[in-house]
Amino acid sequence: MVARGPLFENVQRARMSAVPSDRAELPLAGGYTNAGRVIRVGDTVRRPQNATSEAVRALLGHLERTRFTGAPRFLGVDERGRETLSYIEGEAVLEPYPAWSLTDEALVSVALLMRRYHDAVSAFDPSPYAWPNAVPEPYRGELVTHNDPNLDNVIFSAGGAIALIDFDLASPGSAVWDIGCAARLWVPLRHESDVPRPLRGRSLARLRLFVDAYGVSPPDREQLADVLPLTHEWCYRIVRRAVAGGHETFERMWRDGGRIRAERTQSWLMTHADAIRAAVCRPASGAARSSG
Ligand SMILES: Nc1ncnc2c1ncn2[C@@H]1O[C@H](COP(=O)(O)OP(=O)(O)OP(=O)(O)O)[C@@H](O)[C@H]1O
Ligand SMILES: [Mg+2]
Repeated sequence: MVARGPLFENVQRARMSAVPSDRAELPLAGGYTNAGRVIRVGDTVRRPQNATSEAVRALLGHLERTRFTGAPRFLGVDERGRETLSYIEGEAVLEPYPAWSLTDEALVSVALLMRRYHDAVSAFDPSPYAWPNAVPEPYRGELVTHNDPNLDNVIFSAGGAIALIDFDLASPGSAVWDIGCAARLWVPLRHESDVPRPLRGRSLARLRLFVDAYGVSPPDREQLADVLPLTHEWCYRIVRRAVAGGHETFERMWRDGGRIRAERTQSWLMTHADAIRAAVCRPASGAARSSG
């Protein structure tokens, strides 16, 4: 792990200069898995390769060919064996959350970005590649879903989401699965005490806004309440595995309240399943009344 002071100064410099000098290695903030090892170099990002890298390379190549602008371009592997991606100008949402990131406009922009991503990826054939992070069987389909559209994995510009980054957990899934992953994190869907203060009491109205903006199909709306706790369980199985393996950044997060928050979220999702189902399945006019 990079020490906190210098890392933050470097991040600051990385954000301030349009393109830092070609050679300078500026660690980027955000993310747990590769904390301190995701580096900006000029207008590129260097990060460690992993078991999904080859598949993600093919995925990013497909997205580039379809002219989808909401993902980094894969540029190669550098002399140190790190994958090299295009740096996307903008900012990821990091704590403390800026006010603009908590607006309904930001939420809607994420829903629209997810929709554009799913449309762009729909013609990609995942079958020749290895996808180690399989999603549960009923939701494992042909559509390669992002599966980790966390706040720090979306780049914003002028208050709107413009790109998804960090496809390390991508694998063949289904739209409803990815919608569940994104809605849970961005609405957010969790115990009120863990919801940012300005958003308290608005979870179900914001969930409805998200699914309407995406244009979630009626059958997928029916499934969403069941999918949500499964996406949470899936994601936290990965976190638990990292903690058990001694991953320093995950361990610290887990110790500093992460485990308790994860348990609270899981139980909130289970106990609110009926309310969630009603919020997303109710005819539009009823939803407009309830959120107005
Ligand atoms: N292509 C990119 N363009 C702009 N910024 C990027 C890019 N890739 C990464 N970043 C920045 O670097 C941070 C960390 O990157 P990344 O998400 O790859 O790390 P990670 O540790 O693998 O994350 P996670 O814990 O979600 O797995 C991001 O939150 C973002 O701020
Ligand atoms: Mg990340």
